[in-house]
Amino acid sequence: MCGIVGYVGSREAAPVLMDGLTRLEYRGYDSVGVAVLDGRGVETRKLAGRVDGLRALLGRAPLAGRCGIGHTRWATHGAPTERNAHPHADCSGTVAVVHNGIIENADVLRKRLESAGHRFTTETDTETLAHLIEDAEGATLEERVLAALAPVEGTYGLAVIAEEHPGTIVVARRGSPVLIGVGEGEYVVASDASAVLPYTRSVAYLRDGDIAVVTAKGYRVLDEQQRVQRRSLHDIEWGLESLSLGDHAHFMLKEIREQPETLRSTLRGRLLPAEGSARLDGLNLTAARCTRIRRIEIVACGTSWHAGLVGRHIIEDLAGIPVTVEYASEYRYRRPLRVPGTLTVAISQSGETADTLEALRAAKAAGSTVVGIVNVVGSTIAREADGGIYLHAGPEIGVASTKAFTSQLAALLLLGLYLARQRGLPLERGRALVAALAGLPDLVERALAVEPEVCALAARFADARNALYLGRGVNFPVALEGALKLKEISYIHAEGYPAAEMKHGPIALIDENMPVVCVAPTDHVYRKVVSTMEEVRARGGRIIAVTTEGNGDLQRLVDHELRVPASEPLLSPVLTVIPLQLLAYHIAVLRECDVDRPRNLAKSVTVE
Ligand code: AGP
Repeated sequence: MCGIVGYVGSREAAPVLMDGLTRLEYRGYDSVGVAVLDGRGVETRKLAGRVDGLRALLGRAPLAGRCGIGHTRWATHGAPTERNAHPHADCSGTVAVVHNGIIENADVLRKRLESAGHRFTTETDTETLAHLIEDAEGATLEERVLAALAPVEGTYGLAVIAEEHPGTIVVARRGSPVLIGVGEGEYVVASDASAVLPYTRSVAYLRDGDIAVVTAKGYRVLDEQQRVQRRSLHDIEWGLESLSLGDHAHFMLKEIREQPETLRSTLRGRLLPAEGSARLDGLNLTAARCTRIRRIEIVACGTSWHAGLVGRHIIEDLAGIPVTVEYASEYRYRRPLRVPGTLTVAISQSGETADTLEALRAAKAAGSTVVGIVNVVGSTIAREADGGIYLHAGPEIGVASTKAFTSQLAALLLLGLYLARQRGLPLERGRALVAALAGLPDLVERALAVEPEVCALAARFADARNALYLGRGVNFPVALEGALKLKEISYIHAEGYPAAEMKHGPIALIDENMPVVCVAPTDHVYRKVVSTMEEVRARGGRIIAVTTEGNGDLQRLVDHELRVPASEPLLSPVLTVIPLQLLAYHIAVLRECDVDRPRNLAKSVTVE
């Protein structure tokens, strides 16, 4: 949710912290701050607003020192004000803390500390940690932090510096991601790898319960009993260029346009034309185990949940295994049912979404085998699952997920194909699917050519107040996804619905002011969607249809047609979503919305 960063080494810390916060800003962007040990004590600069504002403040009031911490915030407790911005200090101002997560018993701890004489200056849960550390006994900072964390309930990824312990950063993790970037005589701690990349590609991921002491001489990872833990080093697979905008106006647009390439990397080395199957070594599912699967449950949130809905169609159609798709946030609090032969698939771009992580843990506890479909390498869901499929789509910076969605669909097609071939799908059918998948990136290249038409269309609908998205079968989830994209970046209220469901209520909303987007490729339910469009037309609704190239059938019925190439029906959602991603993007740009940093959102929801 928030982004934390820390630096200790031979350079001035402030520029490194600012660079890190710039790269972490997609994690939360309502307020920001840094604190540096400058030899006299802890110096802090913070404000409500963006990293650029803090950079300007540091220009006017610079900070000197080679050890410091920083934070970019998505407010959970206390409004996004300068006072509530991190870092937070204790009464003496000699301890500074940055935190990503939620201290669930902060109120109880605060009352206890206030009655012991501590003076609180913010409304945040995090400030409690600074006062707990102030109170804690211990010769070393790590001892004090460990003691301070003992009564704490909730989640945290935190970093601490203190005047009495110059040149030292202590970090701790429970529930929220923390990694250590290992450089030459310098170390960058952060919530994710994007902040360490300019300094090193080598990172160590902390696990829940870990605490680490980092100085310019090195780092030690300890458990709650202060026993030294070994955490292996991993190399980050992507480069700085994937974190830069290039000549695109926004990361979202860059990520929409790079989908042919990201799909190629998701499919690379995984298609087996001769066997008509897929190679998914990381899945850890042998042929024997595949045949013993009785049911599949998919757990996810947001766009990943929409991908799960498409995944159900794919797996049921190809492998004949019943699939349920669960909102992870609901699943984790339902009574767990122990059903032998259950495979749970956790889908998450970031691999850190708290609800999906907890749903994964609940499924494991209920005896399920759990696999992850994840984009961020080394993320918690990836490390806690029994196996998985990495998307290899590169970092997704735009808060509105785009390339991860199409790569999730490609991964689900590979999974469906793999399971189906182990369970008797004919070789020829398998080979046809492999051939279709191999050609998919080129089809997406062609689908992107619709952009100029979308731009013209966006101008016509940029003032809409509401919109309805309709789809059927494997493209109903695409209607949901199109509506979500429009909602989250243009702030236009939009709903996605199964096309036939419209008659049971939403049709009441239809009039000349309601744009209706119909996802209608020429598949086996196409005629049914056309009937729905007839019903919309009859009530004066304005229809934008996403349909298949060469389909001249709709001119009389719809106001606008956006055409995508024909494909194997189960692959069509990868194509039909492209015009919807572009439509949301161009409408948001026309409405001068902050496309990459939409209000109230964050890229990775690491709190409940
Ligand atoms: C999608 O555009 C949103 N950013 C959001 O719904 C997202 O899909 C959801 O938070 C799940 O994130 P995850 O895939 O990283 O778990």
